[in-house]
Amino acid sequence: MALNFTSNRRGFVKKLSGIAGLVTLPTGLAALGKEQQLFAPKVAPAEDVTSREDYWGFIQQAYSSSPNVINLNNGGVSPQPIVVQNALDQYNRLSNEAPSYYMWRTLDEGRESVRIKLADLAGCSPEEIAINRNASEALETIIFGLNLQKGDEVVLTKQDYPNVINAWKQREKREGIVLKFINLDLPIEDNQLIVRKYQEAFTAQTKVIMITHLINWSGQIMPAALISRAAKKFNTAIQVVIDGAHSFAHIAYKIPDLEGDYYGTSLHKWLSSPFGTGMLYVKQSRIKELWTLLAAEDPNSSDIRKFERLGTRSFPTEMAIGQAINFHNAIGDERKQKRLHYLKNYWVEKCLDIPGFTTQTSLNPEFSGALATFAIKGMSPGQVAAELFKKARIHTSATVWENISGVRVTPHVYTPLKDLDRLVNTIHLIAKENVAATSRSSLN
Ligand SMILES: Cc1ncc(COP(=O)(O)O)c(C=O)c1O
Repeated sequence: MALNFTSNRRGFVKKLSGIAGLVTLPTGLAALGKEQQLFAPKVAPAEDVTSREDYWGFIQQAYSSSPNVINLNNGGVSPQPIVVQNALDQYNRLSNEAPSYYMWRTLDEGRESVRIKLADLAGCSPEEIAINRNASEALETIIFGLNLQKGDEVVLTKQDYPNVINAWKQREKREGIVLKFINLDLPIEDNQLIVRKYQEAFTAQTKVIMITHLINWSGQIMPAALISRAAKKFNTAIQVVIDGAHSFAHIAYKIPDLEGDYYGTSLHKWLSSPFGTGMLYVKQSRIKELWTLLAAEDPNSSDIRKFERLGTRSFPTEMAIGQAINFHNAIGDERKQKRLHYLKNYWVEKCLDIPGFTTQTSLNPEFSGALATFAIKGMSPGQVAAELFKKARIHTSATVWENISGVRVTPHVYTPLKDLDRLVNTIHLIAKENVAATSRSSLN
């Protein structure tokens, strides 16, 4: 849609609201743009489209993915559908006409509608949602904002995200809080076992527990609600912090389902929002007591907006989140989760009989989504990832962290099966060459 910017502010805001996704379109697919709608496959509302390649081929056309590189590291950061790129571009061009006028007087107002849309997606009140730049910022706002004293204990896992662990370690170093690390031997297909691991670490000093909802290293889905419940049963004063960076818009749930007090996520991962977008959730009753990371006029206010005193940042980027939500809703939570899990199982199942192939990821949808980590016996993750790229231009992520070592593969909704076939064939080839090289060296 070309924007015709008028000096009439009302007409102008109305136009913007169209691209911010404030206008409800007749069907979700309308979010994909006029040209693409012509080719939209017919899908009944409740139809299971998990393996309908015509439907997903259509979704693929909504992205501008490289024809030269197969991107299987969508877990790092995801690309944006073309409609999101266009909205971002349009907001950016507008902002450049008179930055402080358009960003601070006009687009700034749009943040409230983005907040409403995010809250709808997250299943909570807009008054519990703050928009920021990434999961690290959201989670560190929580970690550094909690009132804790020397000797207070925090239970976390060795498989949590490094930025999160480092933030807790900084508090340990500066303030003498005590970190109790659990070590998870993944994958685990027994939720009670995970809950017990946490419970074993609880003491009378436990004040906070940290849960990574979907572990980035291996894709394990953690039973967040069960862990939260066990913690609150042990001591109602325990506060629960949830890292949803990899689960939001990837698996279908609402934030309150997890029964945590605080939650942070990136939006530039599975939601496909512009780069540098994130979200903080704070349960209404906890807002007042949580300190802000960047000082606010009234740090003890109960207004969630106190966490948005971030100084100048990209308003175009924030505004285009609305378009990403439209796109996500056009597919739907459940459909997306099913397809992502299907894609993961599609390639992993084809590799299980390759000699030397192992995976640290469950194939059960209760315990995993799109993300899987695999290894080839006798090769380092770095070597395997380099071979995948050299042989087939497949971009993945070599992962070595604590007891996890492998190549992480994350397809997205736009990934065609053909790309995964190429992945499988290349893994076959690498494993075969590795066996041949090993037997040659044992002969020498
Ligand atoms: C589990 C987890 N938490 C937090 C983050 C931080 O996300 P961001 O880089 O968007 O701040 C990541 C990033 O990969 C992650 O995987």
